Amino acid sequence: MSESAPMTFVGDDVVITVRRAVASDLDALIALDPRPEIGLPARRLAEQEAGTGIFAVAEANGEVVGSGFLDFNDEELNPELKNLWVPPAHRRHGVGSAVWRWLEERAAEAGHQQVFLAVDPQNFRAIPLFLELGYSPTGDHLIMETPDSYQVLEPNQPSSYHAIYRKSLLAG
Ligand SMILES: CC(C)(COP(=O)(O)OP(=O)(O)OC[C@H]1O[C@@H](n2cnc3c(N)ncnc32)[C@H](O)[C@@H]1OP(=O)(O)O)[C@@H](O)C(=O)NCCC(=O)NCCS
Repeated sequence: MSESAPMTFVGDDVVITVRRAVASDLDALIALDPRPEIGLPARRLAEQEAGTGIFAVAEANGEVVGSGFLDFNDEELNPELKNLWVPPAHRRHGVGSAVWRWLEERAAEAGHQQVFLAVDPQNFRAIPLFLELGYSPTGDHLIMETPDSYQVLEPNQPSSYHAIYRKSLLAG
């Protein structure tokens, strides 16, 4: 398969295609963005253009239903999977795991033997997903200057530190 070829996943009841984001996805990504004020989709597209990351989008029925980023240039974790986002209406159909698995393959393709992520320890949705995909906590943490309130059940109580998880890519 050629580098970053789109990949199709069959979710519970929907076919999900994951591929690199392109400029024409920007409007849809901005419309879905939980924090449009920080302009993350445009920044991630520019980073992909510069070759320091891969910006994944998931599509189902011709609609963008999720996104995530593989950062080769993070200061702390190398590489780091981050910014996984599935809008509430599209959750629990396998989109989040499809985006993550596609990005893990890109990391392996780039020669990495492991990947990292950092997650709010109160994130009751994402932690079961990461455990199911084979991640383990390293015991280390990152201090967050601006905690992500959209990750947790009580938006006024995001953690000021995130737990670091790691996955070996050697098992394929
Ligand atoms: C976390 C998130 C990406 C999951 O996306 P998703 O498309 O719903 O995930 P999937 O459908 O692939 O779920 C796969 C598995 O993860 C676990 N999971 C997902 N959502 C869950 C929830 N709300 N409660 C418990 N387990 C959950 C389950 O084991 C699920 O398998 P199942 O549906 O067969 O039980 C989504 O809820 C989201 O965008 N949350 C806000 C942003 C966020 O927290 N991002 C992660 C930051 S590190």
